[in-house]
Amino acid sequence: MQSDARIHLAPGKTTLVHSRLSKRVRKHGLQTFKDYVELVHSDPEERRAMVVALTTNHTHFFRENHHFDHLKATAMPWLQRQASTKPVRIWSAGCSSGEEVYTIAMCLRGPDRASGAWIDRADVKLLATDLSPLVVETARRGVYSASTVQPIPAPYRSSWIRPEGADFVVADEIKKMVTARVLNLFEPWPMRQKYDVIFCRNVMIYFDDEAKAELEARFVDMLVPGGYLYIGHSERLIGAAAARMKPAGHTIYIKES
Ligand SMILES: C[S@@+](CC[C@H](N)C(=O)[O-])C[C@H]1O[C@@H](n2cnc3c(N)ncnc32)[C@H](O)[C@@H]1O
Repeated sequence: MQSDARIHLAPGKTTLVHSRLSKRVRKHGLQTFKDYVELVHSDPEERRAMVVALTTNHTHFFRENHHFDHLKATAMPWLQRQASTKPVRIWSAGCSSGEEVYTIAMCLRGPDRASGAWIDRADVKLLATDLSPLVVETARRGVYSASTVQPIPAPYRSSWIRPEGADFVVADEIKKMVTARVLNLFEPWPMRQKYDVIFCRNVMIYFDDEAKAELEARFVDMLVPGGYLYIGHSERLIGAAAARMKPAGHTIYIKES
């Protein structure tokens, strides 16, 4: 676990580990956790399933809304200027079921359909990645329950979310901006281009300091000069990343040109 996804579960997390892995133990018809440990050692597929079972996928639309206020007021005018000369790339790293990346896309398009016309004239793409294939599939589909879409402010909801049966679907104009992929952040990143904005929020909470410092430094390398990094409310930059990024708001950082 520690070596695959760099998730460090302290001894105090025993109950959480027990309850999450009990389902896997039962699924394989095993009698004891010792048997499960043996299975995990011999079966790479189960090892991956274990990592997924131990991660927390909690997320919601417009979570930590001050980030989206900053995105709209400060990052977006800069992104619009960037878009006149180059492609604009945004990454939601540890995207869970997609609410974060679709919130970003809705903010870029604006509360009414006319306000986002600049997007159609530009090359703006959003990448959403997570290590769990199940949540990535949900992000790809962009179909959510009534209670999930409830936190979306009314104007954005009426412009960009449409009912479909008992569910709600993200509008095609939003969905087509987003690519969702499975990616463990501690494996090599296949992307060749740099990013203008990176969101990595509430992902690093379970990583130890060494893993956090390594990952944050890679995010900084991956940003264009002047690019923004948004991290979760209980997270902070450490090591080389802290030295190379300038605070631009609460848990918001800018890469100095
Ligand atoms: C609590 S959710 C946060 C979702 C969203 N960023 C937000 O703030 O609402 C954390 C996500 O990080 C993912 N995650 C954890 N470790 C990861 C890793 N090593 N590589 C990629 N994703 C990871 C989990 O699968 C989970 O979906």
